[in-house]
Amino acid sequence: MKLTLNIWRQKTPSDAGHMERHELSDVSPDMSFLEMLDVLNEHLQVEGKDPVAFDHDCREGICGMCSLVINGTAHGPMKATTTCQLHMRSFKDGDTVDIEPFRAKAFPVVKDLTVDRSSFDRINEAGGFVSVNTGGAPDANALPIGKVEADKAMDAAACIGCGACVAACPNASAMLFVSAKIGHLAHLPQGQPERARRALNLVSTMDAEGFGNCRNYYECEAVCPKEIPIDFIAEMNRDWRSSVLKGGS
Ligand code: FES
Repeated sequence: MKLTLNIWRQKTPSDAGHMERHELSDVSPDMSFLEMLDVLNEHLQVEGKDPVAFDHDCREGICGMCSLVINGTAHGPMKATTTCQLHMRSFKDGDTVDIEPFRAKAFPVVKDLTVDRSSFDRINEAGGFVSVNTGGAPDANALPIGKVEADKAMDAAACIGCGACVAACPNASAMLFVSAKIGHLAHLPQGQPERARRALNLVSTMDAEGFGNCRNYYECEAVCPKEIPIDFIAEMNRDWRSSVLKGGS
């Protein structure tokens, strides 16, 4: 396959940045999107040019590191698919592909296509855990949890923290991410003692990090590679309100 790539290049966080055009003629339809970028970088290195910086780690759809906006859509054209799991057969020979970083005030560009998502770490540090001592791993059936609740907890826990929800939202809201972090503990007994306080602390940190508010555009749900439903945002809002009414306890 032959492709024309328009790629965002930005040397430093303070650089204005620009789109750079590349022609690639040896693309296999069986390559992943990141492997296609590897091939481009091999060419650039042979030519003595600076390779394109982009984030990746597991390349298996589980770590949340890959983070590209492809032709205007976070993670590209395939539903429920991370950039690393997207294959070039999703494109046609001769296509032009625009590749940009996840853009948001709270995700400043570090270089080219890499962005700083440590704001998500700080949100998690504000309470995305349980403080109770749960001891060693208990027997599977020692703490029965109803199937409906267990399924909801697992649905929320599927969040890989990639930030596609933020990149897709016109307000750069992180509410789907935050609600998933709150939701996976809110549906388990271990998450109950700190439930309301957790919602208050995570939402306050999200606001302080500069993310916008949810206006029900549903763009986050549409691009989430783990198909986390927006219902978790409603649950988070209920927990947050409950904490405010209890005076933040
Ligand atoms: S590189 Fe880990 S999810 Fe894509």
